[in-house]
Amino acid sequence: MTVAQTAKRTHKITLIPGDGIGPEVSGAVVEILEAAGAATGVAFDWHRYAAGAEAFEQTGYYIPQDLYDSIEENRLALKGPVTTPIGGGFASINVTLRKKFELFANFRPIKNLPGLKTRYPDLDLIIVRENMEDLYAGLEHEVVPGVVQALKIITEKGSTRIAKFAFEYARKHNRKKIHAIHKANIMKLSDGLFLNCCRKVHEGFPEVEYHEHIVDNTCMQLVMNPFQYDILLTENLYGDILSDLCSAFVGGLGLVPGANLGTECAIFEAVHGSAPDIAGKDMANPTALLQSAVLMLHHINETETAERVQTGLEQVYREGKTLTKDVGGTSGTKAFAQAVLAAMESPVAVAV
Ligand code: NAI
Repeated sequence: MTVAQTAKRTHKITLIPGDGIGPEVSGAVVEILEAAGAATGVAFDWHRYAAGAEAFEQTGYYIPQDLYDSIEENRLALKGPVTTPIGGGFASINVTLRKKFELFANFRPIKNLPGLKTRYPDLDLIIVRENMEDLYAGLEHEVVPGVVQALKIITEKGSTRIAKFAFEYARKHNRKKIHAIHKANIMKLSDGLFLNCCRKVHEGFPEVEYHEHIVDNTCMQLVMNPFQYDILLTENLYGDILSDLCSAFVGGLGLVPGANLGTECAIFEAVHGSAPDIAGKDMANPTALLQSAVLMLHHINETETAERVQTGLEQVYREGKTLTKDVGGTSGTKAFAQAVLAAMESPVAVAV
């Protein structure tokens, strides 16, 4: 009998392996989730789709209608990175999907893994990034030759919605502090509106401390002392940049997960891109996508499966014998995935 036949619950998940390192990291993640699911009575029905240049070659569309339909139906996707051409070419697949499914909240936890030596041990902060507006609206045009204009769109609705998401998360998870990150000293109207919305939402959450920092100062403050922050609440572009910066605090882009959340659908993906410099070399660290999958498992209330994966992953880091190159190891993607599978099978009790 197959796992799907014996399992108690089956989840349909749209899988976009992506390109570059995408197929390698998503292959590892699917294998680990299958094993964790088999041990906990959960099965996954993966609906696989290409996106971007690969999809265009196959179907003539960068995002085939079947892929849209699949996400619409499953309301859940796990996505590897997709390359976006620079300075021309097709629009970002990531941004297009976020807009299409109104995935207004981008949630990125920045947390150390055990055993990994980083400059900031025990860091635990969260970036909540508005995911649909700002300069990512992609509204650009040439005014006259030599002059182009990009429109930064900030709305009361979008800013209030993301601020509510951050404050509600803080309340639910007992997080103490939110910093709204902005550049309202220069962008007085747009970032000013964002701040006004954050301030208004804060009135309903008096138990959560609220502060405002200008984004350039925030970069310096983060590097000097990231522990002063708990939740960073910010617009789309600043959130994108701060995410890569903060990933470096806990070991780099190979580690940090993400969730794109809307009211109807959710797409889980790592912060990192397609890493063309290491693609196809069995060098990519699948941890970031694996931790994104753990967020997904929590999202669908498969807590036991999520914990089995996270515990196995943390055991591999704690032992430190089978790590990928980006975090100081010598192992490849496949060996790392095998180590996580083995750790899930033979968990070692952790002294507390
Ligand atoms: P990148 O995130 O792909 O790579 C930056 C650096 O981090 C590279 O040195 C890479 O080797 C390393 N890195 C990233 N992920 C890693 C992993 N899992 N394991 C080990 N090392 C890892 O950023 P880059 O090079 O600026 O972008 C490449 C492409 O990815 C671009 O086309 C970009 O638009 C796209 N991109 C896609 C995203 C998505 O699909 N969500 C997000 C970010 C970028």
